Amino acid sequence: MSIEIITTADGSNSLLHTGLNETYHSVHGAIRESTHVFINHGLNEWMNRHPRRAIDLLEIGFGTGLNALLTQQEAEKSGIHVRYRAIEAFPLTWEVACKLNYPDMLGGGKVDFQKIHLSRWNFDEQVSDHFALAKLEGDAEHVDFGENRNDVVYFDAFSPSKQPELWTLAFLGKVVKSMKPGAVFVTYSAKGQLKRDLAVLGLRVETLPGPPGKLEMVRACQEA
Ligand SMILES: C[S@@+](CC[C@H](N)C(=O)[O-])C[C@H]1O[C@@H](n2cnc3c(N)ncnc32)[C@H](O)[C@@H]1O
Repeated sequence: MSIEIITTADGSNSLLHTGLNETYHSVHGAIRESTHVFINHGLNEWMNRHPRRAIDLLEIGFGTGLNALLTQQEAEKSGIHVRYRAIEAFPLTWEVACKLNYPDMLGGGKVDFQKIHLSRWNFDEQVSDHFALAKLEGDAEHVDFGENRNDVVYFDAFSPSKQPELWTLAFLGKVVKSMKPGAVFVTYSAKGQLKRDLAVLGLRVETLPGPPGKLEMVRACQEA
């Protein structure tokens, strides 16, 4: 896999997968996008609806660990316990990850970012008081996400045009099956087919304003 570190419009780094010609985040701002889509419209939405409850979270596409770091920081700030399970088919080396400027841009978190990256794959690890991490190495298509297990899903695969196999009704069905009643699914994409498929799978689909550079994003909720 060939990747290059790039700098996005908010000053935060991302990666360019040169083989796919696909970036890991929006070029309009990696931290801005992750915060808007996954933290504000996903994690915080769920925390507001269910104050003080521990959260089981599933991420499709661990990537740079930016979503994990932002979530760890929210968990420590709020005092709400997060059990974070992330699937990744192509883990980055620490040599690459340690060049990413997220802790500097976020004003802290260097040690936690290192712990997140150096935690063992396929083990449950306690990264900080309120943040437990299980990174699973494997192809998401072949991982069983279980049933009725997740409160929040960060759906952060590469885009539907580059990775259509992770945006099929069958794959989405597997993810939706893993969601508990009242669970929240968020993604940066707002494709019509995605919204129709999520509705077919029984979720209540909302189209929300996207982060800078993107008109819309999707949040979809399992009935409580
Ligand atoms: C958009 S990036 C994720 C960005 C990430 N959430 C972050 O915070 O940096 C998509 C990720 O999905 C991973 N990926 C691609 N195909 C996959 C598959 N079949 N199963 C699991 N992960 C996959 C890629 O290696 C990449 O890390």
